[in-house]
Amino acid sequence: MAIVFHEQKRIFHLTDHTHFSFVLQVAPDPATGDTLYHTYWGKALADEAAEYLPSLHAVPLASFDEGTQFPPFAYPTSGRGDFRPAALRAVGADGCDCALLQYEGYEILPGKRRLQGLPAFYAESDDEADTLLLHMRDPKTALKATLCFTVMNRLHVLTQSVLLCNESQEEIVLHDPASCCITLPGAYDMIHLHGKWAKERSVERVASMHGIREIRSCRGASGHEHNPFAIFAPSQTDENSGLCYGLSLVYSGSHRMLADENAYGYLRVIGGVSECAWHLEKGESFQTPEMLLSFSDQGFNGLSHLLHAAVRTRLCRGEWRDRERPVLINNWEGTYFDFNAEKLLAIAEKAASAGVELFVLDDGWFGRRNSDDCSLGDWYVNEEKLPGGLAPLSDSIHALGMQFGLWMEPEMISPDSDLYRAHPDWCLHVPGRPRSTRRNQLVLDMSRADVQDYVIDAVTRALGSARIEYVKWDMNRNFAEAGSALLPADRQGEVHHRYMLGLYRVLEEITSRFPHVLFESCSGGGGRFDLGMLHYMPQTWTSDDTDAVERLFIQYGTSMAYPPCAMGAHVSAVPNHQVGRKTTLKMRGDVALMGAFGYELDLTMLPESEMQEIAQQVARMKQLRHLTLRGRFTRLCSPFDSPFAAWQFASEDQGELLVCLFRRYASANPEHVYIRVPDVDEHACYTDDEGRVWHGGVLKHVGILPEFEQSDAASMVLHLTRC
Ligand code: DGJ
Repeated sequence: MAIVFHEQKRIFHLTDHTHFSFVLQVAPDPATGDTLYHTYWGKALADEAAEYLPSLHAVPLASFDEGTQFPPFAYPTSGRGDFRPAALRAVGADGCDCALLQYEGYEILPGKRRLQGLPAFYAESDDEADTLLLHMRDPKTALKATLCFTVMNRLHVLTQSVLLCNESQEEIVLHDPASCCITLPGAYDMIHLHGKWAKERSVERVASMHGIREIRSCRGASGHEHNPFAIFAPSQTDENSGLCYGLSLVYSGSHRMLADENAYGYLRVIGGVSECAWHLEKGESFQTPEMLLSFSDQGFNGLSHLLHAAVRTRLCRGEWRDRERPVLINNWEGTYFDFNAEKLLAIAEKAASAGVELFVLDDGWFGRRNSDDCSLGDWYVNEEKLPGGLAPLSDSIHALGMQFGLWMEPEMISPDSDLYRAHPDWCLHVPGRPRSTRRNQLVLDMSRADVQDYVIDAVTRALGSARIEYVKWDMNRNFAEAGSALLPADRQGEVHHRYMLGLYRVLEEITSRFPHVLFESCSGGGGRFDLGMLHYMPQTWTSDDTDAVERLFIQYGTSMAYPPCAMGAHVSAVPNHQVGRKTTLKMRGDVALMGAFGYELDLTMLPESEMQEIAQQVARMKQLRHLTLRGRFTRLCSPFDSPFAAWQFASEDQGELLVCLFRRYASANPEHVYIRVPDVDEHACYTDDEGRVWHGGVLKHVGILPEFEQSDAASMVLHLTRC
């Protein structure tokens, strides 16, 4: 049993029996009678041990605020004298925000429940998961909160979400209802992924402190700045050892995650939606997004192993979840807006001759779009560029033996578009305020059903107009003046979340209508790289920065939370368009090998020798992609801490390995740095593709002394097979 209720002590013990235990307790609370406390999360405990956990709510205090300073409430509300950040501020008809949630009962159910209208992890059969529902209720406002925990038995992770129902006759307003509230005794560093456009998901480690550390997005998208993910770990934890706790929000909109450490030595972590003031009428309910809770005592790599497996196999869905991804060529950095059918076909021919499998037509194929200043919303072909529409181009690409893919940015509208002229109220806006453009565009109001229907229809028509096997779904700006023309004044605080519900409805519909299409999401590069989007689209364009050296950081950081197969990674031209750096084709290919691999340059400009090298890279990728898709990924050396970067993939039985080593800059007469390869059979020998023999024990305990060419941005890739 993954969930046991100890009746005498009123303890719920949730465990996968190998990796983690999570314990909640029902106990008295002076204000509410009985309430729920979170008393343990960490290494798996024997079931009887859970009975001996300290009852944290009952630890005596000597202060004048006795009993109110640190109870580890499982779902704390504001205004109840807890004096810490709350998981929920619920304002009742009296205008006060002091809901007191009283424990009412529980249910233990097999399997995992779907979340209405929201992406979530799933179980394919009931024996994969067990679910605990904990019912709480505030007697005064009749607000009911059901905390929903699911133990994903085989994935060794836990999910949590909360369903809030108004059982009263009056309206209740919910402010930023959180998905979870966790209490951990001790001091923890907070490791999170921050960034900006073209520099997403840098790893930052913030030492423990008394007070609040917070990451947040108020942008209407998860955003480039703060990924909805954080790890909490004692200061000694590193990549390969030590305890760590991961919280990953399954959501793509405005979010928050805050960690409050108090003077008694307790960390409270709260995470969920932000920018949300939701009016709950009588009988209505609000479903929070899901939080994935992961724990490892094997350092950050151990945590990533759990996350990658869970995301790849039980968050991503559809036909492409387990399929090897095609090697693609995208024309964006090759041509930008300056193309016609002839130019595209010339690139496609070159790509086909090198074995590339998919041609992706990026921005600029529709309306009058020759720059970024018009036509978003006018999803009909620009026949000046592509006479006869998409079908003749797609047919010609297919005749070359390749598939055809298309870029769209369906959530946006250009002020200079037929759509805007016909429906000026379809964008997010506030009457009497300017409509601020970014990249010359406005955001469609996806909270509206008519706009959602229009988007579904427009995408369906575009995808039906030719043979299209891939879609890049872009989103190139965030919210300003986030008002909706259809909502009354007191509901404008719901726009951020309603937008996401509308978007998820659209994505659900489109991906079910086109189950064979491979979807890749994008948002000015990696501005919406999150578990919400990955539920519908199994890969995301990682960053608009395609420089191989910069990508070492971006891909390394991204891998803390997300599997490599979800990261779009392309070889682009030199000098690189974002940083002006020249790197070898080998380095660029070796870096991109980690993810969903492709090219993004004008192949007609390359000498024959480079086309031959590309053909070899493509052939190598086809040979290795089963490993980059399904293999276990481990970080070996961080570019954030050294001039090197390294990572490895290993097949489940460790019979096949891919080891990728990089040096960012050369130095004269360098010291010798050995890079250890931990995920290896230490009793076996391996051969590389050149026939050299390596011993697993030496790889693991001594390491590889990389042989780099004497230049900056050098790489070495070893493909090893057990002898
Ligand atoms: C932003 C994306 O990240 C790029 O790859 C490209 O698709 C452009 N948008 C097109 O406008």
